[in-house]
Amino acid sequence: MTAQRVCALSELEQDTAIRVEVDGVPMAVVLDGNGDVHAIGDVCTHGDVSLAEGFVEDDTLECWAHGSAFSLLTGKPLNLPAYEPVPVYVVEIDGDDVLIDPALTKEV
Ligand code: FES
Repeated sequence: MTAQRVCALSELEQDTAIRVEVDGVPMAVVLDGNGDVHAIGDVCTHGDVSLAEGFVEDDTLECWAHGSAFSLLTGKPLNLPAYEPVPVYVVEIDGDDVLIDPALTKEV
């Protein structure tokens, strides 16, 4: 599989997550305060909730339902009730295009 365009870099607002789907794989894409783009699995591992509807703080994305904050770097929840990580995807930037291959996760 190859990386696919998911959105424009200029569409992303700092510290705000958007939900994208690549080949049926839902992801939360975040532009952090340092200008880095992250992509993690969009479905909270505690419940069927979109993490992209949650809150970005530093390098975490917090689930709005019960407050588990997932690391954008490792996908691991930093607090309960979630205890299973979400996948972290490799993001490529090509000009203004944000590209992600759903088969390419980071080993963390
Ligand atoms: S559904 Fe995300 S913490 Fe409960």
